[in-house]
Amino acid sequence: MPLFPSSSPSSFSSFSCPSSLPAGAPRPSAAATAAVVVARLRAAGCVFAEDEARLLISEASTPERLTALVEQRVGGLPLEHVLGWAEFCGLRVAVDPGVFVPRRRTEFLVHRAAARGPSEGRIASGGPAPVVVDLCCGSGAVGAALAEALGRAELYAVDIDPAAVRCARRNLAPAGGRVHEGDLYEPLPARLRGRIDILVANAPYVPTGAIGLLPPEARDHEPRVALDGGADGLEIQRRVTAGAARWLAPGGRLLIETGEHQAPDTAAALAGAGLIPRVDHSEELDATVVTGTRPPLGPGPGR
Ligand SMILES: C[S@@+](CC[C@H](N)C(=O)[O-])C[C@H]1O[C@@H](n2cnc3c(N)ncnc32)[C@H](O)[C@@H]1O
Repeated sequence: MPLFPSSSPSSFSSFSCPSSLPAGAPRPSAAATAAVVVARLRAAGCVFAEDEARLLISEASTPERLTALVEQRVGGLPLEHVLGWAEFCGLRVAVDPGVFVPRRRTEFLVHRAAARGPSEGRIASGGPAPVVVDLCCGSGAVGAALAEALGRAELYAVDIDPAAVRCARRNLAPAGGRVHEGDLYEPLPARLRGRIDILVANAPYVPTGAIGLLPPEARDHEPRVALDGGADGLEIQRRVTAGAARWLAPGGRLLIETGEHQAPDTAAALAGAGLIPRVDHSEELDATVVTGTRPPLGPGPGR
């Protein structure tokens, strides 16, 4: 799993890992503390040991706490679960134990969703806020970042996992987001039918047979329901796609993160559901997003 390099400034405390010092030894400098933590993390195979050490040290309020955090990390817990937060699109997003860690690549989904669409005109004209739905929301990182990027949004999110729902409620409260627990569209208020301007979904898309190939951090600490996309990885995406036309406003867009090699099949599913598909790829983030636009209503007879 990609680990987030730190971009947040952190000041080193001047305590050490007690387990690494003889009793009665003088308190080491901040640099010495950092060196001990870096060495411990590096020995455990952490690729970004310096960045992680800086984050762990700045998070710990006592030497005992620092020791506990380092031990958790060395034991294989994802850094974001150790810290209790992840950086995503410049936001600090709470990530509870057992909740999917938002990945850096998913920032591309936010960029594509915020890039253009009916919402822009509305925001500019001072009309009603765009209706935004984050399906399969996990921590709610995508919805939170999208609301921030758009400036304002009538925001809803859904997840089937109660732990994710609790976490997303905390993350989406500042944006006034409402988080529903249940299966895809099922818990959404019926009044949103035909009204959604931007529907984003980072649904699980790992093929069942490839779960065992994921890094242990994902395999062992993220729930299966967050990873497993069925035989070809696209089972949940297809269900998201099949329901989209009924929920999108005319001109509204569904944006799905998918694998680069899965994108043609994701796009075909969108086309089959009556949406106009488009595939975008970011080399920098190694991310692929398929967008399906519900055709705007034509003038029609007598209009
Ligand atoms: C890959 S994670 C993505 C989480 C979040 N969108 C993100 O990018 O960080 C997929 C999420 O989908 C949720 N999920 C899986 N199946 C679902 C379903 N049928 N209905 C709603 N949520 C579902 C999982 O609980 C998990 O939180």
